[in-house]
Amino acid sequence: MNPATHDFPADPVAAVTHADPYPYYAALREGPPLAWNDTLRLWVASRADVVEQVLQAHAALRVRPAAEPVPRAIVGSAAGEVFGHLVRMNDGAAHPAHRPALQRALAGLDLNAVREAALLVAQRVPAQQALSDTLFSVPVQTVAHLLGFADDALPQVERWMRDFVACLSPLSTAEQLQQASAAAGALMTRFEVLVAGATPRHGTLLAGVMDGTMAGALADGSAEGAAPSRSLLANLVGLLSQTCDASAGLLGNSLVALVREPALRAAARTRDGLQAVVEETARHDPPVHNTRRFVAQPVTLAGTPLAAGDAVLVLLASANRDASFNPDPDRFMRVRARRRMLGFGHGMHACPGQALACTLAAAGLEALLRRAPDLDALRRRGWLYRPSVNTRIPLFH
Ligand code: HEM
Repeated sequence: MNPATHDFPADPVAAVTHADPYPYYAALREGPPLAWNDTLRLWVASRADVVEQVLQAHAALRVRPAAEPVPRAIVGSAAGEVFGHLVRMNDGAAHPAHRPALQRALAGLDLNAVREAALLVAQRVPAQQALSDTLFSVPVQTVAHLLGFADDALPQVERWMRDFVACLSPLSTAEQLQQASAAAGALMTRFEVLVAGATPRHGTLLAGVMDGTMAGALADGSAEGAAPSRSLLANLVGLLSQTCDASAGLLGNSLVALVREPALRAAARTRDGLQAVVEETARHDPPVHNTRRFVAQPVTLAGTPLAAGDAVLVLLASANRDASFNPDPDRFMRVRARRRMLGFGHGMHACPGQALACTLAAAGLEALLRRAPDLDALRRRGWLYRPSVNTRIPLFH
């Protein structure tokens, strides 16, 4: 075996949780634009231009396989119901039905207020809680707060959410899927109560989504006396589930950057410095390493004919390290003239929560550093990554 490749991950899915998958991604970028992986039985896109092409080919490539809009393991369950409504998991009418309201509400957030809220939430997270769990608590509980949940409900909402996101992973056991469904049912009920209650607090994320939804309903005449639809409630749950693993990963990988590179620690003393560390982490060692697309109709992309039913693994983390996309891509540079990122997606399904996510991670990092952790001891003890097929979240020893 070539000594340079002996430590490569077995395949692009194993790369997500590998200690250093980036030399392997670089080798993939040297190969064909779309490479067939016979073990995973899917096409792999690793270069930035091809990743962009795949994510823009909305007519031919869909976010779910036509034959399985909801994973078989959860069809018919409460988790399956939520999954089936999410804008993230739909290309049909369900996508434009809710995406604009979610996008407007997220764009309207006051990011200074978000930071303040995250710092307050972080103060209430018990100091004795494991660091690897606090990575989840701060962003998830802050978004739950922004949605209008009362402070004393936040830990429970976080527990439900962490149970629910298990249904998004093919690695989950039957027992985890059952818990995910129980959590989905509980969350739908809680959101129903929240939406039906007093007018949502002005300025909350919930008020923003409801205003956008009402504006849409008034425009099409369906507003009068209408109860919130199950699909709206599911997409509110979706705001928390989109936050959960990805934001824990961004916060955790930003902390890893400080642990690995002591020279960065001085920058982390200012608010701008923290924000810059988080944004470069989102490019350099992002939390979401890949997403998938499924071919709905035959199409030729990057000179490669794809057949209906084929699947494409889109390596967002590899694209960020493409030298034609970001010069000197392997260097962690807090200041970059034009930082380009595909780790938040691209095209019609691109993440509407990017600014919120970076603010949550910067505030989370600020809160963690206020607890004066021994970063060198963290480095000596080391870390692994949580088992996942797409998200890179450190698990500290
Ligand atoms: C570091 C944190 C985050 C990362 C890395 C991330 C990444 C992504 C990516 C890659 C996609 C597109 C997936 C695809 O096209 O296959 C996406 C979609 C989405 N994200 Fe995020 N996200 C993060 C946080 C958030 C937050 C905090 C919210 C809102 C509270 C959010 C809301 C959404 C929604 C609603 C979609 C679906 C958009 C659509 O399908 O039209 N995300 N995210």
